[in-house]
This record gives sequence, structure tokens and C-alpha cells, in this order.
Amino acid sequence: MLSTVIAPSILSANFARLGEEVDNVLAAGADWVHFDVMDNHYVPNLTIGPMVCEALRKHGVTAPIDVHLMVEPVDRIVPDFAKAGATLISFHPEASAHVHRTIQLIRSSGCQAGLVLNPATPVEVLDYVLEDLDLVLLMSVNPGFGGQSFIPSALDKLRRVREMIDRSGKPIRLEIDGGVKADNIAGIAAAGADTFVAGSAIFNAPDYADVIGRMKAAVAG
Ligand code: DX5
Ligand code: ZN
Repeated sequence: MLSTVIAPSILSANFARLGEEVDNVLAAGADWVHFDVMDNHYVPNLTIGPMVCEALRKHGVTAPIDVHLMVEPVDRIVPDFAKAGATLISFHPEASAHVHRTIQLIRSSGCQAGLVLNPATPVEVLDYVLEDLDLVLLMSVNPGFGGQSFIPSALDKLRRVREMIDRSGKPIRLEIDGGVKADNIAGIAAAGADTFVAGSAIFNAPDYADVIGRMKAAVAG
């Protein structure tokens, strides 16, 4: 099992003072910055792009930036995010005409590659590409908004993908995104996740260090 990663989703941060918010969650014990990119086309919401990623790097953020692309088409924006300082780039197979080609493009741009499965996307989409991935991201809400409730069927899916990853013998991360809270994270970890995105649960809390600490303690059991 890989080390635990807590990746706060900045979707729930105060965008009017984003640099400070990111500094604060990292100082509070967050491991990565989860960066949600929405295009008002693949998903019904519009957020931030490569310029904001680059601005965070210029601000001095050195932690991994975990870019979650909810955009269609995917390929055109990949090199821009690589140049802007993304560490990892994940995308939805439904938004790419050639999934294998997009994975190769992300890797040849110098980033790690992740594939995102929506709640209704079957795990078989991983069959021929799993070993080319650095990360599998399972959505436990429908993509587009923060603050939704965890969909329980994601637990069974986590267990299935955990088995696939273990069988591959590769150090592929298993990330979960949507409705993750301090009070349900233990069960999510038990189902096989090692990387946890949490937006509203962290940024709506009065004390980031307290909630991140409680999440890490719950994962450690
Ligand atoms: C949803 C985004 C998530 C979202 C999670 O489309 O991918 O990263 O910000 O927010 P919470 O943790 O509030 O469900
Ligand atoms: Zn996300």
C-alpha cells in the first residue's frame, strides 16, 4: 500500500485569496493540491485553467498539483497544464476520443497520468490501460460541483479496482473524489483508497489542521 495522501480540492476554497488558502492547507498537513478544471461543456460548471495553476507555482507552491480535467476535448489543454506546473493530470475517458493516446500525451509532456471513472463508468475501461497509469481516480459523486453526498456504490468499485491494481503489481495510486469527510474516510480507506480528495469537508471547516489531522488518524486506524 502506498502512503496516504490528502488532496484538498480548491474548488471549495475562497478564490479571492487562493494563494493564501493553498498555503494554509499545505501548512495544515495537506499533501497535494487537487485542482478541478471544468469547462461548462463536459460538466455544467466553469472553473479555472492553466493560468491559475501557473500563478500558484509563481506564488511558491511546491507541493504536487493534481489536475482533474473535466473538459472535452482533453488533448489540446494537456501541454498547457504541463507548462503551467501540473504534477499529475487526470481525465475522463468519455471526454477523449483516444484514451491511450491521451495517456501517452500526458506522459510525454512530463506529467503523471490518471484516468477518472464516473459513478456509472464500468471498471473494465481500465482493462487495457491500467499499467500505463500512475493513478486511478474514482468519482464518488457526479462531477461538476463540490458539496455533494458520497455515493455508496463507490465502495464496491474501490474494492474491485484495488484488486486490479494489486494484481498489476504496479505502484498505481487509487484516489477517491466526492463527499469524503472525516467521518466516512475510514471505510473508504478500508475499501482500498490511498489518496483522498476533500473539498467542502476541509475548506468549510474552521480549522484546516484539525480536520486534516482527524482524516489522517481515521485512515491510519
Ligand atoms: C467534483 C470535483 C471534486 C469536488 C469535491 O466534480 O471533482 O473534486 O471539489 O468536493 P467535495 O469534497 O465537497 O465533495
Ligand atoms: Zn476533482
